[in-house]
Amino acid sequence: MKTCSLVTCVLAFFLPHTLAAAQSIAAKQYAPVLQPCPASIDLVRSVGSDPQSQKLSLEEAHYIHSRQSSILPTAWVDYYLNVLHDTSQLLPLYITQILLGSLGLDALPNLGIATSGGGLRAALFGAGVLSVLDGRNQTSVQAGTGGLLQTAKYLSGLSGGSWLVLSLAQADFPMLPELIFGTTPAGAGGDSFGGWLPQFDILEPGADANATAAFVGTLLEEASLKRAAGFPVTITDIWGRSLARHFVNGTTADDFFDANLPHGAGITLSSVPDVPSFRNYEQPFPIVLANSVAGQPDPSAIVINESGVVVPLANPIYEFNVYETGSFDAVLGAFTPTQYLGSPNSSICATGFDQISFIEGVSSTLFNTFNTSTAALLSSSIGPLIEGINQTMPQSGIRLDSAQVPNPFRGVAKGTFMDTDSAMLTLVDGGEDGETTPFQPLLVQARGIDTIIAIDAVNTSDNWAAGDSLIATQERVKLLSPAYSFPPVPSTQEEFLAQNLTKRPTFFGCNSPPSVGDPLVIYIANGGPPLGQAPLTNTSTGQLTYTPEGAQRFLDQVYDIATQGLPLSASDGSLVKDPEWPACLACAVVDRARRRLGFERAGICVGCFERYCWS
Ligand SMILES: *[C@@H]1O[C@H](CO)[C@@H](O)[C@H](O)[C@H]1NC(C)=O
Ligand SMILES: *[C@@H]1O[C@H](CO)[C@@H](O)[C@H](O)[C@H]1NC(C)=O
Ligand SMILES: *[C@@H]1O[C@H](CO)[C@@H](O)[C@H](O)[C@H]1NC(C)=O
Ligand SMILES: *[C@@H]1O[C@H](CO)[C@@H](O)[C@H](O)[C@H]1NC(C)=O
Ligand SMILES: *[C@@H]1O[C@H](CO)[C@@H](O)[C@H](O)[C@H]1NC(C)=O
Ligand SMILES: *[C@@H]1O[C@H](CO)[C@@H](O)[C@H](O)[C@H]1NC(C)=O
Ligand SMILES: *[C@@H]1O[C@H](CO)[C@@H](O)[C@H](O)[C@H]1NC(C)=O
Ligand SMILES: *[C@@H]1O[C@H](CO)[C@@H](O)[C@H](O)[C@H]1NC(C)=O
Ligand SMILES: *[C@@H]1O[C@H](CO)[C@@H](O)[C@H](O)[C@H]1NC(C)=O
Ligand SMILES: *[C@@H]1O[C@H](CO)[C@@H](O)[C@H](O)[C@H]1NC(C)=O
Repeated sequence: MKTCSLVTCVLAFFLPHTLAAAQSIAAKQYAPVLQPCPASIDLVRSVGSDPQSQKLSLEEAHYIHSRQSSILPTAWVDYYLNVLHDTSQLLPLYITQILLGSLGLDALPNLGIATSGGGLRAALFGAGVLSVLDGRNQTSVQAGTGGLLQTAKYLSGLSGGSWLVLSLAQADFPMLPELIFGTTPAGAGGDSFGGWLPQFDILEPGADANATAAFVGTLLEEASLKRAAGFPVTITDIWGRSLARHFVNGTTADDFFDANLPHGAGITLSSVPDVPSFRNYEQPFPIVLANSVAGQPDPSAIVINESGVVVPLANPIYEFNVYETGSFDAVLGAFTPTQYLGSPNSSICATGFDQISFIEGVSSTLFNTFNTSTAALLSSSIGPLIEGINQTMPQSGIRLDSAQVPNPFRGVAKGTFMDTDSAMLTLVDGGEDGETTPFQPLLVQARGIDTIIAIDAVNTSDNWAAGDSLIATQERVKLLSPAYSFPPVPSTQEEFLAQNLTKRPTFFGCNSPPSVGDPLVIYIANGGPPLGQAPLTNTSTGQLTYTPEGAQRFLDQVYDIATQGLPLSASDGSLVKDPEWPACLACAVVDRARRRLGFERAGICVGCFERYCWS
């Protein structure tokens, strides 16, 4: 399959079908629509550069407020009861008081969850951890960890993590195994969610080269009417249309190759508020990230010299949420309504540009890292796609290896915003600055997050995590000081590895003075197999397909990783799960609230913090 001369195949298949494109329902639904802007619309909301006076959008503030008052009080009680499943573990009284709500709404913890990039491996790892935190899963309830997912205010993702976060949000927040494996009842089909379908390779799903070439031809067709409407089409569109088959409603295993279906075309990020669980404030608020390639990378500003880190840390990090797209970073400090993303100016507005498939593509477009030369790019795995775009939709003056988004922020933040004069934003994978775990949106002061569960499945050697994303975040926060606060973490991979900090959950920020304002970070990394098992979760980022059985075995191992805590040696020398881990997790989740209320850390929490904190 890999020996296929995909270029020739793709073009042979695509060119005869060019006219058919105009008929394809997916092509029609993927093309943005231009119309006069609504009279009252403001396409730029400035949040300024002062982190203390930055405000959330009214819609986000309303969502969080409603979730806090109508959903979270019960969610915290449920979680508390789940922790108590192991009644031998006595929790200090302050945990009971805080979580049962006897000290009021404001006393509750403010939890965010960040789930990292790292391709399909990271999506699976993140999903496995979320399942362990899911209060709807009885196994997780019995394990004493279930329910935290329901208490989170925010869920952020980037790259492979964005596939998880957005597929979950738009599929109406199903349980994680259902999300991955699908449960579309026979005949439901249509616009429901058919699962991640990991048995189909994301880039080369065909049974043979011809089938893959035909598939790629279909993807090109699907993007062609976007181009015809005057919008740039790049690798991100083609990649995104393929991601749509896995991470957006509208595809099942039976109709995967059916070119007459929309395959999620037309489903936009700004339409997620219509999904029932979102309407009822039952989801953590989803946010996904992208980087921009603006400016020259300053080597000294790149703290980790690993392949793939090519974006300067000081560049704005863009966030996409269901209401707004933009950046809280002081260099930009502005947002545009996600619904009107892609608008050429403030008279003519675009709708339908914010397709979920495209946003998932933007967050995971790391193909620019293959572009060390044109020859290198063209001989890479996506070379045929670049050539296919170039030959069928020739465009000048834009990069084809990155996402192109008409710049909503032209003329904004002159003097600090490097793209203030650009017609297009050139956006790439949210991890290309090295911050591969999406902390940034959870550090925004206006969001008031005090506790972060950070799920890290990015790879270094042997495809295990080694703390890089925490190191990069620490450096970025220093660079942008005092906008954000982040707890101290080791400054090298070697330190992470020598202390086994990626091999078991680690708490950061346990002893930060209150004046620092940093969140407590509960770090759960894909750093090694659990309890001496043979490793299954360090698959390569480039592995874009899993059999359903392989994905299940992977998830089973993540279950052990996320429930074992810091394994203990039993009397016979074997390793066993820490029976106190669920209680220790509760201690960590409540710790910032405890401090705010002036309680002393007590009881089982004292020992937990000795074992799980890095200092
Ligand atoms: C609950 O979690 C367990 C352990 O990960 C998993 O095997 C099971 O399929 C899950 N149950 C449901 C209903 O999703
Ligand atoms: C996606 O499908 C699920 C059912 O599988 C449905 O509940 C949800 O509303 C759909 N989302 C969209 C955006 O159509
Ligand atoms: C692939 O297509 C080419 C040309 O269209 C044809 O010659 C070849 O037999 C096909 N291969 C397979 C495996 O179908
Ligand atoms: C990364 O490489 C650049 C130059 O290639 C160098 O200046 C910088 O010190 C290196 N950083 C680290 C952390 O090794
Ligand atoms: C706005 O964009 C539209 C579509 O590209 C264009 O026709 C129109 O001239 C632009 N208007 C202004 C005021 O720039
Ligand atoms: C795109 O096509 C043009 C014209 O055929 C060619 O000159 C150029 O090298 C191509 N670029 C890429 C990246 O393939
Ligand atoms: C490759 O990168 C260069 C900048 O380094 C850019 O000018 C060029 O357009 C890129 N090639 C493609 C096909 O995107
Ligand atoms: C991930 O692992 C692969 C294979 O070991 C390696 O080529 C790649 O550079 C690694 N990525 C990072 C970010 O270290
Ligand atoms: C997974 O990790 C083990 C042990 O570190 C290593 O031997 C193996 O090669 C790794 N597998 C992959 C696919 O990187
Ligand atoms: C790290 O784990 C290894 C076993 O995997 C153990 O031998 C070593 O003592 C641990 N190091 C620390 C600092 O806990």
